[in-house]
Amino acid sequence: MSFTAQTLSGDKPEQYAQLAAQARALLSGETDRIANAANLAALLYHSLPDFNWAGFYFFDGRELVVGPFQGLPACVRIPLDKGVCGAAARTRQTQRVEDVEAFPGHIACDAASRSELVIPLVKGDALVGVLDLDSPRVARFDADDQQGMENIARIFVESLE
Ligand code: SME
Repeated sequence: MSFTAQTLSGDKPEQYAQLAAQARALLSGETDRIANAANLAALLYHSLPDFNWAGFYFFDGRELVVGPFQGLPACVRIPLDKGVCGAAARTRQTQRVEDVEAFPGHIACDAASRSELVIPLVKGDALVGVLDLDSPRVARFDADDQQGMENIARIFVESLE
């Protein structure tokens, strides 16, 4: 298979609809979570502006462990009571943080990160992990980004067996 990145066009919801179609095509017929997470991290990181990190943490039954990502090397393990990722995993609610410096307990893996969007990945009743997106720009993520990324996260979870 060869993949050609398509330029996204239109307003944000339109761009996310195009991105979702690309994600579905990329994951189609594959259930391996490492393969799908790796390709999805690459797709997200290279399709959208102002990201310094895009990737996955998986829940190992105790804490979050870093999975496939694009960006600088990151913290390997995050307890559920720590950081933005831990909060998303613990509450199973998306965390959209406009300024990470104002978030108590934020873990600075990359000092460049200024805003963050973390979406919990839940299959059935089971916590799979989180999708974590970091930006060097304050307030990079708005409600359209949240909705668009929650849809992408759903496509990932549905691809798993
Ligand atoms: N900032 C995150 C940690 C993960 S990295 O940014 C890749 C947090 O506070 O949970």
